[in-house]
Amino acid sequence: MSRRPYVAANWKMNKTASEADEFLDAFLPTQTADGAEVVLCPPWLALQRVAERCAGTPVRVAAQNMFYEDSGAFTGEVSAPMLLDIGVDGAILGHSERRQFFGETDEALARKVPKAIEAGLEPILCVGETQAERESNDTESVLSHQVLTDLAEIHTDDLAKVVIAYEPVWAIGTGLTATPDQAQESCEFIRNLLRSRDPHKAEQVRILYGGSVKPGNAEELLALPDIDGALVGGAALDPADFGAIVAAAPAE
Ligand code: 13P
Repeated sequence: MSRRPYVAANWKMNKTASEADEFLDAFLPTQTADGAEVVLCPPWLALQRVAERCAGTPVRVAAQNMFYEDSGAFTGEVSAPMLLDIGVDGAILGHSERRQFFGETDEALARKVPKAIEAGLEPILCVGETQAERESNDTESVLSHQVLTDLAEIHTDDLAKVVIAYEPVWAIGTGLTATPDQAQESCEFIRNLLRSRDPHKAEQVRILYGGSVKPGNAEELLALPDIDGALVGGAALDPADFGAIVAAAPAE
């Protein structure tokens, strides 16, 4: 089963709208419709600008979060219809920084993921264990709980609409990358969890690795059998570095 490689830039809380423009000036002319699917995830205030400039290009755009209600008294939140209205294609959900610093729960994610799918947005669901969980041999139980809870409410028919990013928390922004064996083992474990829902659809789900992906390690990680792409933080802030990671994705 061939899965089109998927490389996403999570800018986190970086780049003003003008800085996003500078990135796009350098990056967009280098992108063609061949090769990996490329997705930029800018912060809220650059999102509309980036979505407008990427319209009509092969580059797609996703938010870094989304709430599960369409509208109402939810101060500070942003809904699926609001994202669709400005031309956004998807949303990162459950990033470890949202889990760690902003109280994101698996129960909320179990509502956000189906909401995104129902609205026609592509969810990029992030899962991953902390250093302490890895050291106490809890990686598999943590991944099982996250994947099975967060996807519990989606229809099995929709499974292949979800992109999953395996991001070991200890590898994010630390310069510590999971070894290829560790990354492959966890991504294969995640695919096996998906097989328990639907063996056929599980083959279609793109599973990304995230955590200190750089131009120098991307090729090796992206060549692994159960890794279909990357979710890139720090190295995605620079158009040349991010472009090099996109170019490292294998041909489909
Ligand atoms: P870094 O690439 O900076 O480690 O961040 C990874 C990440 O959290 C992407 O979502």
